[in-house]
Amino acid sequence: MRSTPRPVIRPRRLRETPALRRLVSETRLHPADLVLPLFVREGVTEALPIASMPGVVQHSLDSLPRAIAEAAEAGVGGVMLFGVPETRDARGSGATDPNGILNVATRVAREAADGALVVQTDLCLDEFTDHGHCGVLDAEGRVDNDATLERYVAMALEQARSGSELLGLSGMMDGQVAAVREALDADGFTGTAILAYSAKYASAFYGPFRDAVESTLEGDRRTYQLDPGNRREGLREAVLDIEEGADVVMVKPAGSYLDVLADVAAASEVPVWAYQVSGEYAMIEAAAAHGWIDRKRAVVESVRGIRRAGADAVLTYWATELAGWIRNGETE
Ligand code: PBG
Repeated sequence: MRSTPRPVIRPRRLRETPALRRLVSETRLHPADLVLPLFVREGVTEALPIASMPGVVQHSLDSLPRAIAEAAEAGVGGVMLFGVPETRDARGSGATDPNGILNVATRVAREAADGALVVQTDLCLDEFTDHGHCGVLDAEGRVDNDATLERYVAMALEQARSGSELLGLSGMMDGQVAAVREALDADGFTGTAILAYSAKYASAFYGPFRDAVESTLEGDRRTYQLDPGNRREGLREAVLDIEEGADVVMVKPAGSYLDVLADVAAASEVPVWAYQVSGEYAMIEAAAAHGWIDRKRAVVESVRGIRRAGADAVLTYWATELAGWIRNGETE
C-alpha cells in the first residue's frame, strides 16, 4: 500500500505557539498610526448621539476637549475635525467664516491637544452647502470646478489661521492640491501640510456620515468622486496629487478598495493613509449588536487588513478604543 507523502515544507510550524505567531507577525497595529474623526456641532451644549453610528457623537465645543484628551491619552496620532453648522447656504459661507464652527473647533482642539496629537481638518464644502455638494454650482446646477477652487483656497487660509496642521482636501476637484498649496505658501503658511483624499470613490459607505453632519444631497457625486469600478484611475489621482504637492495621499473608503490602496502604496513616495468610513463602521457595529460577529475581533481584523494592504495610518471611528486594546496587548 502506498503511504501518503509526508510534507517537507510545513508553514504551520510558525503558527504553533502564541509567542511564535507574535514574533512572525507581519502587520502590527500602533496607536500612533490611528486618526480619530470627530464631528463638532454648532449651537449645542452637550454631545448628541448619531443614530446610524452607535458610539459616535456630534460633539459640542464643550465636549470636544475631553474626546481629544482621551484620544491623546490612548496614544492616538491625530484627530480629523468635521464641522456641523447650524445654517447652510449655496456657497457654504460657514466654511470661510473665522467664527464658523469648524474654525472655532480647530482653535479649541489645538489648545486641548497641546501638541500631543496632530489636529487636522476636513476641507470640503458639503457640510456647509444647502444643496450638499462638495462645491459651488453653476447656472445649470453642475458643480463648478474652478469656482469651487476659489472657495477651497479661502477655506484653506481660514483653517490654517485657525491652527489646523494638516488640511484634508476631500472635495475631489481637479487642481485642488496645487491651488491650495500655492495660496498657503503665498500667505506664509508654508508649514501647513496637505492630506489629499486622492482616490475618493462615489461610495454607498458614506451613508451614515450624512446623518453625522445632517446633510442632504441633491443628486449624487459621480461627476467628481471616482467610479467604484476604476482601479487605474485611483492611482492616477494619487500620482497627480503628489505632483501637485500633497504631503500625504489617501484612499477612501478603505475596505472595498484595498487593491487601490496597495497600488498607491507601491507607487507613492509620500505617506499613504486610508479612511475606514462611516458605513464600514456601521456595518460591524450593527452585526455585533445582533451578536452575529465578534465585535473586537472584527474591528481589529478590519483595521489590520487596511494596514496590511499598505496604509501607513488609518482614519477610523474606533481609534481611541482600538488604541486602548493595542496598549493592553489585546490585538496580538
Ligand atoms: C467630505 C467627506 C465625506 C466623508 C469624509 N469627508 C463625505 C462625502 O464625500 O460624501 C465621509 C466620511 C465617512 O463616511 O465616514 N466632506
